[in-house]
Order: sequence, then structure tokens, then C-alpha cells
Amino acid sequence: MGDSYELACIPGDGIGPEVVAEARKAVDAAAARFGFGVAWVDLDLGADRWLRTGEALPDAALKELGEVDAILLGAVGRPDVPPGVLERGLLLRLRFELDLYVNLRPVKLYPGVASPLAGVGPDDLDLLVVRENTEGVYAGAGGTVHRGTPMEVATETSIETRAGVERCLRYAAGRAREREGRLTLVHKTNVLTHAGDLWQRAAREVAAAAGVALDYAHADAACLHLVSDPGRFDVVVTDNLFGDILTDLGAAVAGGLGTAASANLSPAGGVGRRGPSLFEPVHGSAPDIAGTGRANPVAAVLSAALLLQHLGQREAAAAVEAAAVAALPEAGQYSTRALGDRIAGNVAGGEPPAT
Ligand code: IPM
Ligand code: MN
Repeated sequence: MGDSYELACIPGDGIGPEVVAEARKAVDAAAARFGFGVAWVDLDLGADRWLRTGEALPDAALKELGEVDAILLGAVGRPDVPPGVLERGLLLRLRFELDLYVNLRPVKLYPGVASPLAGVGPDDLDLLVVRENTEGVYAGAGGTVHRGTPMEVATETSIETRAGVERCLRYAAGRAREREGRLTLVHKTNVLTHAGDLWQRAAREVAAAAGVALDYAHADAACLHLVSDPGRFDVVVTDNLFGDILTDLGAAVAGGLGTAASANLSPAGGVGRRGPSLFEPVHGSAPDIAGTGRANPVAAVLSAALLLQHLGQREAAAAVEAAAVAALPEAGQYSTRALGDRIAGNVAGGEPPAT
């Protein structure tokens, strides 16, 4: 037996538990085939826990999560919990507390998946969005005064720090260097002149130091380009809110949320804490189809492939990604579990599991 990993699993709400179960099967099959060990630590967090105890993320759970090698999360949120409670109290809190300052979201059109964009095939759509994940309007700075009166005021302040922007840019430039050597900053420097100026200056410095070409697009124009000319992007780096919006559009042009995976990373070289990284599909909890067996587990499986990649299990990651991609053309024909079994079977490669 080679390396061994402790992996936390937060199945969460709605279809989260269903898709995560299939992602785990793929990871277990990869562990058996490639000779590493996996011990899962299950954490019961999400809507049920909150409704039962009022806790979104108890300190003990946070401590436990801080000690594992990586975290796999399904989805959080349910209509019977007020909006924001689990999003802020669990998911965003994990991103902040574990200092997961990069949200890496590949936008990739896989063979056998149709893009809604006419004439666009897998060769035309393969980019990485690096979304800053701990600052911007997500930081939670703001407040309300005179609530419910005609004088009420609400502020939501966007926080950008030099160190926070720079560490995200450094990661993005590193990824650009491994790929085509070009990086596109997406912001709104024509209106957000303060934050835009900080991002712009930092991006120029970081790109020059890394030896990558820097391009720039305003966030609105980037949406247009992503639809009309997606090939112009390779690695995109952007702030938290622009990244949130742009990656939903990215998922749509790449054929929908069924294949959109993400990694919340705390890469070396940052200035903050280094928590274990967290991997999750971009899709939400989809309560409308929970329990029907119709959820596509591929985005969760691809997120697990990103997890394996992050652990340095490259062969295992490639096998899991390839198996998920091979299953895509038939995704609509099988239930969540049946598709997950086919993927895990493919990862295992038909060889008997190692004992
Ligand atoms: C995402 C989601 C989250 C976000 C929500 C659920 C808080 O939309 O991961 O993109 O806004 O970051
Ligand atoms: Mn989002």
C-alpha cells in the first residue's frame, strides 16, 4: 500500500448525497487500482443538521475538517431553510476559515456533450476560470440601518486586499504558464476604478514576473466573448462575484451544470492559513429532482478527479476523469446510481480490487 489519505465527506442537501455517493465509488475504485488508501470521514452538515440543532458549522466539525487531507462536498441549501443560512454559515464559512482563496472552475466541453453554441466543439472550449474566493462582496462587510423605515440604508462593501488579489493572480499565472502562457484578467475597471486599479496593477506585475502574456476584458464583454468567441480565453482570473457569474455562464456554454466541477484551493505560496482544499460540483442541491435518481453524478465525479489531482494522484485523477467523460454520452439513459456504477467499473479497469 502506498500513500493513505483521510478524506472528509459532506454530502449535504438535495441531490448532494446521491451524487457524492457515486464520486466516492470512483475514488475508492481508483484507490484500489492505483494502490493508495482512503479513509472517509463523514460529516453530517447541512439543512437537516441546522433544522435539528441550529448549527450550520459547529466548531468541532470545523476542527475535524481542518485536519483531513481534502474535503468532498455535495451541495448545500434547501427551500425549508432561509436563503443565506447554509450558504454563508457553511459553504462560505468553510471557504473563509480554511482560507481556500482560489476557486478553480474548468470550463470544458467534453466529447459527446452538446454545447448550446452553434458550431462549437470540444476543441473550441477548454478554459480555466480562477475565481478569487475569500474577498470581494463575499467578505460580508456591510450592514443595514433604519431597517424597515423609509430611511433604511443597506451597504455591501467589496473588500480587495493587495495580498489577497496577488496570491490569486500568482496561482492563475502559474496555471497559465503550464498551459498556453496567456492570462486574461476579467474585471470592470471602467466603473470599479478603485478595485479595478488594484487588480490591474497587481496583474501586470504578477504576469510580468511569471512571463505570461496578460490580456484584459471587462466582465460584461467577457460574457459576450464567452458566447461569441470562447477560444479567445485560456486562463481567466477574476474577482469573487464576477467569477461566480461567469462560471455559471461557462457551465451553460459547456453543455450545462452536469459536467461543471470545481476546486476550492489553498495553494502553497499564499500568505494566510493553509486549510485542506475542498472539492464540489458547481451545481446546487436541486431539491426538485432529489430522490428521483435523475441527478447526473458526473460533475461530482469530475470534482473528485480534481481532488485526486490535488493529492498528487495523477494517474488516478486521469482514470476517474476519463471514466466520467466516457459515461457522458449515456448520462441520460441511466439512473444516478447506475451511471456511477458504470464509472466506477471503468475506473477499476475490470481488474480485481487490490486487497
Ligand atoms: C457557487 C455558489 C455559491 C457562491 C453560493 C451557494 C453561496 O453559487 O459556488 O458558485 O455564490 O459562491
Ligand atoms: Mn455560483
